[in-house]
Amino acid sequence: MKVKVRPGTPEDAEMCGRICYSAFKTISEAHGFAPDFPAPEVATDVLTRMLANPKFYSVVAEIDGRIVGSNFLDERNTIAGVGPVTVDPTVQNRAVGRRLMDAVHERAAEKDFDGVRLIQAGFHTRSLSLYAKLGYDVREHLACMQGKALGISVDGHVVRPATEEDLDACNRLCTRVHGHDRSGELQDAIAKGSAKVVEHERGITGYATIIGFFGHAVGDSNNDMKALIGAAKEFIGPGFLLPTRNGELFRWCLNNGLRVTQPMTLMSKGKYNEPAGAFVPSVLY
Ligand SMILES: CC(C)(COP(=O)(O)OP(=O)(O)OC[C@H]1O[C@@H](n2cnc3c(N)ncnc32)[C@H](O)[C@@H]1OP(=O)(O)O)[C@@H](O)C(=O)NCCC(=O)NCCS
Repeated sequence: MKVKVRPGTPEDAEMCGRICYSAFKTISEAHGFAPDFPAPEVATDVLTRMLANPKFYSVVAEIDGRIVGSNFLDERNTIAGVGPVTVDPTVQNRAVGRRLMDAVHERAAEKDFDGVRLIQAGFHTRSLSLYAKLGYDVREHLACMQGKALGISVDGHVVRPATEEDLDACNRLCTRVHGHDRSGELQDAIAKGSAKVVEHERGITGYATIIGFFGHAVGDSNNDMKALIGAAKEFIGPGFLLPTRNGELFRWCLNNGLRVTQPMTLMSKGKYNEPAGAFVPSVLY
């Protein structure tokens, strides 16, 4: 079986989207979980945007000219985000996934990223094993949280839309918590109008690009994160990713009626700083 890996193009979106949908659906349903993508069109839509975005590097695997998988590298920040990596279920466990991972790691090395990270479906033994063999360490156990909007505010914490003027303060906050900023994603979210900040006493103490699967949030304290989660109108996608080591915030979510939809794992390779604050990672980065 000869596997060829090449850069992805926008023309690959439909086939890659179909494979992405069926790869996640197959593994999720085998374990009794809802698929990450509700329909093939949703996966195709996400991959179409990634394949067309120059800030994402993409690779496609082919066998005899037929696309059998794809992978992505989010290059917007100093730590690059890997995934979604997906392989056609009919050819899984035959080293295609490893080739797709090697390809984005080569790119990350060429571009001199300080590290790479990804989010893994906690029940998936194969991806967990593959990533560990490729040098990734488990950093955080996550619960994907979903439910009705909470409509809760936190005393003295004001949540408002983020603007370009907030960028520096948000980047400083992210650097305090994570050791690096995530300016690229935040700028995109401000431009789209989805980003929020929370202000407390002296200034900005938290922000979120979105409270949902594709967004991240950072706060000086759990109260900042509670204010952001409490103000979210909905939790877009399968849910937002809560680090369960943060028992106080996890219990607060549970006690306010949110439900765990699936376990996930944050893994990274290269530079990683133990977070010094509250945070919610995004699935893509
Ligand atoms: C995850 C995925 C991309 C991996 O691709 P793949 O082509 O199936 O995997 P590969 O054959 O390249 O690698 C699997 C590795 O894990 C090992 N492995 C598989 N199951 C294992 C287990 N239970 N315990 C230990 N090792 C295991 C294999 O031996 C292989 O190791 P090797 O590379 O050293 O030989 C693919 O299975 C997939 O699309 N899954 C569904 C979607 C998904 O979960 N994507 C990842 C999102 S985080």
